[in-house]
Amino acid sequence: MSRSAHPAGPRHADVLPEGHYSAPADDLNALDPKVWAHTVGRDADGVVTVGGITVTQLAEEYGTPAYILDEADFRDRARAWRTAFGNDADVFYAGKAFLSRAVVRWLHEEGLNLDVCSGGELATALSAGMPAERIAFHGNNKSPEEIERAVRAGVGRIVLDSFQEIVRVAHIAQSLGKRQPVQIRITVGVEAHTHEFIATAHEDQKFGIPLAGGQAAEAVRRALQLDGLEVIGIHSHIGSQIFDMSGFEVAAHRVVGLLKDIRDEHGVELPEIDLGGGLGIAYTSDDDPREPHEIAKALTEIVTRECEAARLATPRISVEPGRAIVGPTAFTLYEVGTVKPLDGLRTYVSVDGGMSDNIRTALYDAEYSVALASRTSDAEPMLVRVVGKHCESGDIVVKDAFLPGDLAPGDLIAVPATGAYCRSMASNYNHVLRPPVVAVRDGAARVVVRRETEEDLLRLDVG
Ligand code: LLP
Repeated sequence: MSRSAHPAGPRHADVLPEGHYSAPADDLNALDPKVWAHTVGRDADGVVTVGGITVTQLAEEYGTPAYILDEADFRDRARAWRTAFGNDADVFYAGKAFLSRAVVRWLHEEGLNLDVCSGGELATALSAGMPAERIAFHGNNKSPEEIERAVRAGVGRIVLDSFQEIVRVAHIAQSLGKRQPVQIRITVGVEAHTHEFIATAHEDQKFGIPLAGGQAAEAVRRALQLDGLEVIGIHSHIGSQIFDMSGFEVAAHRVVGLLKDIRDEHGVELPEIDLGGGLGIAYTSDDDPREPHEIAKALTEIVTRECEAARLATPRISVEPGRAIVGPTAFTLYEVGTVKPLDGLRTYVSVDGGMSDNIRTALYDAEYSVALASRTSDAEPMLVRVVGKHCESGDIVVKDAFLPGDLAPGDLIAVPATGAYCRSMASNYNHVLRPPVVAVRDGAARVVVRRETEEDLLRLDVG
């Protein structure tokens, strides 16, 4: 994730420290459309607007910090994925990236399916009216209660992750007098080029059943024998924040190889193949993600080619993008509390949130960008580190970025591309309250997930 150090001469501090940052943009007030939601811009006074509303209005009405979600952009991106894959494939939005009832309704309306991975996500999906047959249920350790709820609800597929789960799901389905459609998640042995914690197709990790050593073939063999299961396909998810399609190519090749072996051994052609999610987005101007139509074309071509070579009918393809749909559609709005220049080092800008609303920087060394949002400025760029209010020095939101040198307490700053895995991984560390998610569209804003209150915290603490 590293980039070359700033090549220009020092600007704010006497000496710029070593770091992973690019030169400051020529115009710090410019908002790169690659990293900002579609309707974001600045009004005549230079205030950032989204969906026709200024961030100052949003801060006044809903407070800070807040996740501001551009509903039109979310729908556009969901629709773009749906259209790109067409009617012969299915797009399952990965709810772990961010799930709320409003999001479930938008997905339903835009014709997407939904991937859930816990009882809580399943409950959210069902309560917002997502038809059960359009839900896939994931997870490496689903509890018997969760499995029973999913089977009773009639979810379209359960993705099986272990030998024990094959038996467990079959048993539960049979005891309910049902035959549950399932996919079997395998690991294909691909090293995805991403952070270790979010790579999932190499063999030495907790997800899936390894293709190596015939284990995946054995899982299929056992599942096909169980009356409670209808084996509909094979699943592979190679990791997250991936830009290079070659990992998917290898995965598709190996999954199709397994389908061929299954056909040869059992005389059964499984009708579906799921290639998971994991497509990268732009967090900074240096990232260059692919468009959904390019991804759809590439994946469809790979699977079709591999199936032709194996003389198999092309199975129905499904994908599970989470980040690529919701990630770019939201930004986090913070108020600056303190600005602390450290001579010869950098300036620490403290905001009213931090690692409790965005753990990704601390956890994955993720890179973000940031902009002054409540006004523009022509001041010289200064190298900053945007930090939170938590009692930990690793509480960093944006590690290295440039903001105008006249930044002051009370300014609003916005961190783009925080739609995925920020609210969904938010915590109450230091009893900091989790921010709301405010959806904006066509000049109107509404809270879709409200801000946590101290009463919420105290209600759980039963004394
Ligand atoms: N399908 C499966 C089976 C998955 O495990 C995941 C993500 C997805 C789809 C969606 O991946 P996406 O398209 O959103 O990359 N917390 C980490 C990401 C963890 C992803 C876990 N699984 C992060 O903040 O980067």
